[in-house]
Amino acid sequence: MAGATFSTSLKTAAGYIDVAANAHGEEKGHLALRALERVRSDRPHLVEIGPGGGSSVAFLASQLAAGEDRARDVRLTLVEVPGVVSTSLEQAMDDFSRVGRCELVTGFAQDIANILNGPVDVVSASALLHEVYSYGGGYNGLHSMIRTIPTVLRPGGMFAYRDVYAVKAPSLHDRCLQTYTSRSWLRFLRMFVPQYLGEGTHPYHSASDLVVFRQDSRIVPVERLCERTGVVASAPVGVFREVQRHYITLRDHVWRSGVLGFTPFLEGPLAGDWIDARYGHKRVHFFLTDTDWLPASQKGMLLALSEQYMDHWTVDGDVFDECTDIALNAFLELAERDDGVCGEVWRSWVTREGRETYAYLTLDALLAAFAVNSTEAALEERTVLVPVRVDDVIRRDRAYYQRYLRRAIPNPLRDAKQLVLFTNVSVDDSDSLSQGMQCLQQWCSKSSLARVYSAINGG
Ligand SMILES: C[S@@+](CC[C@H](N)C(=O)[O-])C[C@H]1O[C@@H](n2cnc3c(N)ncnc32)[C@H](O)[C@@H]1O
Repeated sequence: MAGATFSTSLKTAAGYIDVAANAHGEEKGHLALRALERVRSDRPHLVEIGPGGGSSVAFLASQLAAGEDRARDVRLTLVEVPGVVSTSLEQAMDDFSRVGRCELVTGFAQDIANILNGPVDVVSASALLHEVYSYGGGYNGLHSMIRTIPTVLRPGGMFAYRDVYAVKAPSLHDRCLQTYTSRSWLRFLRMFVPQYLGEGTHPYHSASDLVVFRQDSRIVPVERLCERTGVVASAPVGVFREVQRHYITLRDHVWRSGVLGFTPFLEGPLAGDWIDARYGHKRVHFFLTDTDWLPASQKGMLLALSEQYMDHWTVDGDVFDECTDIALNAFLELAERDDGVCGEVWRSWVTREGRETYAYLTLDALLAAFAVNSTEAALEERTVLVPVRVDDVIRRDRAYYQRYLRRAIPNPLRDAKQLVLFTNVSVDDSDSLSQGMQCLQQWCSKSSLARVYSAINGG
C-alpha cells in the first residue's frame, strides 16, 4: 500500500475550498454551538481544527450575533494545515471578530497539544477525521489524535465531531453483494477500484476482504469489467460505501469543471428548488458550457426535456441525473484513455480526493474508539470521551443523493452524515459515566460496550 498524499494545491483551489466543500454551515457548526451553550465558562475558548472555507465559522458568527448571551466573550482559535488558504475563511473570520476574538494558527490536528497553550472548553471538527485517517497514518494516526484530545480539554470540555456516515453494521468488513447495471457505474468501478485499493489508505487487506466481480456468472478481474454487462460484486460493505461516496464526489467535480457541457447551480437558492424536499426531489437549474466533445444529440436531448428559465435552463432532477450519468459514461470513456481535458479532470479528482477513505468507522466502532483511546490519554486524572445525552449522537440523511442512488443502483447504502458531541468525563464521575454508557448502548454492540467498560475500569 503506497498511501495517499495530501495535495495542498488542489485542496486549496478557490473553487473547491471556498465553494464546493463549503456548504452546510449550519450542520457543520451545529454541535459546536450546542457545546458552547453547555460549557459554563463566561469566556469560553473554542478551537476548530480544519476550518476549510469557514462555513461553520460564518454560521457561529451569525448565531452568536443573534443570540441572547452576547455578554460572553467567545474566543475562537482555528487550526489549519500549513499552506492551506481560503478567501471565504478570511471573510468568516472578519464576521466572527464582530462577536468575539478569532485567530488562525497553522499546524496538524495530530500536534494539537503542542499548538495550543493550555486547555480549552470545546474542540470541533467537520470532515477532518477522514483526512487524518487517509493522510495521517490510518487508524494509528486517528487513535493517537483521539488520545491527544482529552489532554487539551478542560474537565467537562467537549469535542464536536461531524463526518461521513458509514453504514449500519457492526463492521465495515461485513461482506455483502451489490449489483451494478448502469454503464457509467461499471466504467467507474473499473477505473476507481484498482487505484483506490492499490494506492489509497484503507483497511481492506485481508483474504476475507477481497473484492470479487462476476459477469455472466464468471469471475472477472476488475480491470476487465465490461461496461455493457451487469455485474454482481461481492466485497466488504465498506468498499461499496467508498464506491458510492466517490462516485457522488466525482459527479460533483465533473459538473463543476464544465466539461460535460452543462453545469447545475450547486449553491445559492437555485440549488434548492424543491419539488418535494423530504423525498429529495428537486428541479435542477443549469447553464450550458462550451464543451465540444459531447455528442450534440446528448446535449440536444437534455435541452428538449428542459425549459428555459431567465438566462439558464431548468429540468426535473431525476431527468437531469439520468442525463448526467449518460454524459459521465462518455466522459469516463475519454478519461480512461487519458484523453485531453477529460483525462485532466479525472486525474485532478483522483489526486485531490479519489484515494481518501471516507467511511472508516461505523458509529458503533467510532464511539468505542473514542471511549477506549481517550482513556489512554497522558493525563494524571483519567477521563473518557463519551456522548452523555441521547441527542448528542445524530445521523442526518442526504435525501437528494439517496433519491439518485435508489434510481442508479439496485440496493444503495444510506448516504448521510454522522455528528457526535463527546464530553470529556472523569472516570470517577459515576453519574456522567452511566449517562454515557446509556448513550453508547443505543449505537454500540455488546462487544464494543465490553471493550469500553474494560478500558474505563483499567482492564
Ligand atoms: C474536507 S475539508 C473540511 C473543511 C471544513 N471543516 C468543512 O467541513 O467545510 C478538511 C479540512 O481539514 C484540513 N485538514 C486536513 N488534514 C488536516 C490535519 N491533519 N490537521 C488539521 N487540518 C487538516 C483541510 O485543510 C481542510 O481545511
